[in-house]
Amino acid sequence: MRVLVIETSCDETAVSVLECSGDTLNAEFRVLGNALYSQAHLHAEYGGVFPTLAKREHIKNLPALLATAFREAASATASIYDSRKQNPLGIDLVAVTSGPGLEPALWTGIEFAKAEAARLGVPLVGADHMEGHIISALVTKSGDTTYKLTLPDFPILALLISGGHTELILMREWFSYELIGRTKDDAVGEAFDKVARLLDFPYPGGPKVAEAAARARARGTAHGIVFPRPLIHEQSCDFSFSGLKTAVRYKLRDMHDLSDETKEHVAEAFEDAARDALIAKTRRALHETNALTLAVGGGVSANTEVRRALQDLGTKEFPDVHIAFPHPSLTGDNALMIGMAAYLRHTTEKDGHPLEANGSRSLA
Ligand code: KG4
Ligand code: ZN
Repeated sequence: MRVLVIETSCDETAVSVLECSGDTLNAEFRVLGNALYSQAHLHAEYGGVFPTLAKREHIKNLPALLATAFREAASATASIYDSRKQNPLGIDLVAVTSGPGLEPALWTGIEFAKAEAARLGVPLVGADHMEGHIISALVTKSGDTTYKLTLPDFPILALLISGGHTELILMREWFSYELIGRTKDDAVGEAFDKVARLLDFPYPGGPKVAEAAARARARGTAHGIVFPRPLIHEQSCDFSFSGLKTAVRYKLRDMHDLSDETKEHVAEAFEDAARDALIAKTRRALHETNALTLAVGGGVSANTEVRRALQDLGTKEFPDVHIAFPHPSLTGDNALMIGMAAYLRHTTEKDGHPLEANGSRSLA
């Protein structure tokens, strides 16, 4: 089955063509075409994603990205792409992210996908961005352009850590979701981005904070900065990151010497605290749920220190739990994971998600 995928939930515009086969036991995905444009540099001057600008950029860039993805798919399948034909690539299904995300941005993708599905004469299904992040952890890259679903052991505990979400969700079976914990305020990625702004690092700052923290850690000099680990002793699996961000703000306000080295120490102390909060709640959730797989997804799953600590937690305390991370090509927002999730729903005869944009839709 060939699936055309459109993802416009935030500040990445992404279009893919995937060839999908198998089912939830053995699915394989071949990337025929994949075009992605990150608007991040345009949002940098606003210090975060500016929804109207995101929408305008999606509208502007979708046609060219679609053309690129189609051209790549034609060359991957050694076919001649004739745009005058109704469906020259034999697309069977169109999938589009309908939530969660920025509603104006989501609507842009949905309207574009509707028009494309009608033009191709194929069905259109809605997909869920967070379901995509979960599936991104459950596939392994099996070749230059192929991904394979590795049959997971259920129950699966998903730790979703992105710019908009910090959630622990339990999957007892495919596509059934139970909320175990979530952030009461900021998402962990948002905290990374806000701390980056306090440190004068450009948006999106999460990776910059991580790099600064890594430099401090490599130096290994003591700095005595310790931030609170929010909610770590509370008897729940909920998170909170806004107090931590405020603690960083006050610390910086009180400091006089803001050398690069000091900033790196602050970044390290912040990352340590955020990491410990993620670990404490994941530990609690693994105990509570007896999950056999921990699937980590979302932009923050790219963080080396968080990955290391989660691996360490698994090795030392949960040796029977398989800990699954996305391949680096799938950690950030992309259309591939969206297409994989939509296809897997389709093959299990689960309905797609609604085709109305819903910015705050939750899986659980
Ligand atoms: O999943 P994603 O690409 O977009 C959303 O769905 O939100 O996640 C983006 C978030 C941003 O907050 C970004 O700063 C953060 O993931 N991020 C990181 C790292 N790479 C991306 N945070 C910490 N360390 C990283 N290496
Ligand atoms: Zn995302």
